Amino acid sequence: MINQIVLKALNEQFEKEFYSSNLYLSMAAYFSANSLNGFANWMRIQAKEEMDHAMLIFDYILQRGGEVIVPKINEPEHKWDSILEVITATYKHEQFVTESIHNLYSLATEHKDFATCNFLQWFIKEQVEEEENTSELEARVKLCDNNKSYIFLIDTELKSRVYTPVSINQI
Ligand SMILES: [Fe+2]
Ligand SMILES: [Fe+2]
Repeated sequence: MINQIVLKALNEQFEKEFYSSNLYLSMAAYFSANSLNGFANWMRIQAKEEMDHAMLIFDYILQRGGEVIVPKINEPEHKWDSILEVITATYKHEQFVTESIHNLYSLATEHKDFATCNFLQWFIKEQVEEEENTSELEARVKLCDNNKSYIFLIDTELKSRVYTPVSINQI
């Protein structure tokens, strides 16, 4: 039987991953509306990945015999003034998620829930990648210094990102 405090925190993380997915979908819509289809593609894939993260937690809670609470998701931001503002918000959001995962890990340790610690290892590693990718993208957008030709080059490159699904049996 899973510890109820850890279960509550897992359900809260489930909600955060869902929110992340909707936030990135909102950013994808913003980029599409601004004819930046590469950035939009990158965000759409990001949104799918976040939904996968949510589903990993969903499946894990069920595996442990816990109750999944499908939450109400707050409406994400949908207005930004520049590409850089969106990408900076993305990097900041990933840092927020990392902190949340780390807190969850600490809580699981505190309650000697080693199975949950083990499950969260994948997320800890994933967040290193997420922060690396988003901070690098932020740095590259900053380097463009609003030069439209350089932005166009990055946009073209981001069109090639492909989605790789992940499920609980793979982690
Ligand atoms: Fe995530
Ligand atoms: Fe993420």
